[in-house]
Amino acid sequence: MGQYLEQYTQSLHNPDEFWATAAKTIDWNKPWDKVLDASKAPNYHWFPGAQLNTCYNAIDRHVANGRANQAALIYDSPVSNTKKTYSYQELLDEVSRLAGVLLELGVSKGDRVLIYMPMIPEGVMAMLACARIGAIHSVVFGGFAANELATRIDDAKPKVIMSASCGLEGSRVIKYKPLLDNAIELSTHKPAHSLVLQRPQAVASMQEGRDVDWSSAVEKASPADCVSVAATDPLYILYTSGTTGQPKGVVRDNGGHAVAMMWTMKYLYNIQPGEVFWAASDIGWVVGHSYICYGPLLNGSTTLIYEGKPVGTPDPGAFWRVISEHKVASLFTAPTALRAIRKEDPNCDYIKKYDMSCMRALFLAGERCDPDTLFWAQDKLQVPVVDHWWQTETGWAIAANCLGLEQFPVKAGSPTKPTPGYDVQFLDEAGQPVATGEMGAIAIKLPLPPGTFPSLWQNEERFFSSYLETFPGYYETGDAGYQDEDGYVYIMGRTDDVINVAGHRLSTGAMEEVIAAHPDVAECAVIGVADKLKGQAPMGFAVLQSGTNRDTEVIVNELIALVREKIGPVAAFKMATIVNRLPKTRSGKILRGTMRSMADGTEHKVPATIDDITILGEIADDLKALGYPKSV
Ligand code: COA
Ligand code: AMP
Repeated sequence: MGQYLEQYTQSLHNPDEFWATAAKTIDWNKPWDKVLDASKAPNYHWFPGAQLNTCYNAIDRHVANGRANQAALIYDSPVSNTKKTYSYQELLDEVSRLAGVLLELGVSKGDRVLIYMPMIPEGVMAMLACARIGAIHSVVFGGFAANELATRIDDAKPKVIMSASCGLEGSRVIKYKPLLDNAIELSTHKPAHSLVLQRPQAVASMQEGRDVDWSSAVEKASPADCVSVAATDPLYILYTSGTTGQPKGVVRDNGGHAVAMMWTMKYLYNIQPGEVFWAASDIGWVVGHSYICYGPLLNGSTTLIYEGKPVGTPDPGAFWRVISEHKVASLFTAPTALRAIRKEDPNCDYIKKYDMSCMRALFLAGERCDPDTLFWAQDKLQVPVVDHWWQTETGWAIAANCLGLEQFPVKAGSPTKPTPGYDVQFLDEAGQPVATGEMGAIAIKLPLPPGTFPSLWQNEERFFSSYLETFPGYYETGDAGYQDEDGYVYIMGRTDDVINVAGHRLSTGAMEEVIAAHPDVAECAVIGVADKLKGQAPMGFAVLQSGTNRDTEVIVNELIALVREKIGPVAAFKMATIVNRLPKTRSGKILRGTMRSMADGTEHKVPATIDDITILGEIADDLKALGYPKSV
């Protein structure tokens, strides 16, 4: 039996032993009573009874064990012209004093802290400072608008918000503080304080009594010690898009998470302590949580924070420069970043300027990796390119080519095989397994492994209805795909209204809610159409209220502006059209799938009635006006 099969089989047949062995990599303050508590199935808990501190495991123990002077965190920011390295000792000093500031602001174990930060070291420090005192952090991606921020403030009810005066998007300065102030105004829950890091590119005005200057507070603070928490206590809440405008608060616990992160650093990414691992993502996404902040640091490796883009900061060689300059062993990014580089530098000429011999592998996730991009990366980088599939909910890969276990030949379009811990099944509508090679809904037989999510933040009901109800005994991933005769899995798309734009997970339902609120709109639909660069792009269709005679171009522009204002620039909502009617089923369900197929130029069902033919004909004309279908 190969290494993979042996480990995979053990993880499913004897999970207690498998994960107890993995848990030896963590320093516990108190051992667990049980590895897995299944007594409240389908709610499962890993390592109940155990106590630990995640920040201690990510920083303090490495300082105590001889890594004090090793680089813990490298900050490389072409947009602010800054490079800075923090050793584990320096990171400890920063984080423990920042944790001291939080204590002084009244934050204690179990309290929530919202983090709205650009890609600067202080973002990671903020997460670790929360973990240090047992506070639960909730990071919100900087590209979300005030409205989205307000929704998360109301759900998480943070005592304190940690933020910065601005973010830097290429050459643009994005002022965060006015967005934050606006969000606090919009929210019902009011945090007691905002701790604001002033950046020289845009100094923010502060509200006396509420806003606290980050740098001077840290300077004066006394360092705080690690607080012991239960393995099952939440480490963080991360909001992600669901089918409605109300995001889902995915909860991650402390113990299972630390164990899973350690296991993946070794067996999936094959990264040793002391090596540099770079996840070119953002701390606002799950990839940023797992592999910018926690995974590499728990492992005693060096993490890299890059404040820049794959292109334009200053050129498509930016990634290669960072890799060679900081001796990055493995890069983790989204296929869209490679497509952006390839678009500007098809032959990858920029790479020739750099010594890339340090790079051992490239990991891709966040969206389906098209074979073309995979082949291009393999050819230009000459290292294994590993597509792996995961979700905010799982926190780590459900399927991957685990380089630290056994390397399988790559099949383009497949993230290889289920990762140990995940019993991945492909089911039909009745919940029965489909045949090999046939498409099915992808579900994971419970229990999910450690490091996944035990629930949604204070919403057990939604946790059940969204994930556990459709297929009793399984977690419904929301993805569809198939498995081939060699056990490789293929992830073909979502079964719900979630779309993936430039590796960012977005809800078309949320965009529809915004558009429907426009006074001239009677009803609407938003679909994700294939996009050569971003994978998918949102496209809106609106039917106007009868009697509306305003210029449709003006209305379209208002809809685009509204989505940007309410959801944020990250929605990348730039295409909309006014239609007479929307195609629907007899029961009134909008045929979004058919519209998407028409836009993508793929096969779709021939309409049944003359009326349907007419409506779809009108939609086809509207799509044509927008330039669709186009060959992608
Ligand atoms: N703060 C504020 N605004 C942000 C932001 C942030 N943190 N991140 C993105 N935005 C804005 C962008 O500036 C852009 O605004 P614009 O409409 O005014 O131009 C908008 O949100 C859309 O951003 P994005 O979809 O990222 O497009 P882009 O053109 O700026 O960049 C890529 C395109 C492909 C280079 C970029 O999307 C990329 O690097 N993607 C990789 C994604 C990734 O790492 N995903 C994580 C999963 S691993
Ligand atoms: P997020 O929760 O933002 O990580 O997005 C998760 C979703 O992104 C998944 O449910 C998939 O639809 C998609 N996704 C992530 N990684 C992959 C991958 N490697 N291949 C195909 N789809 C992916």
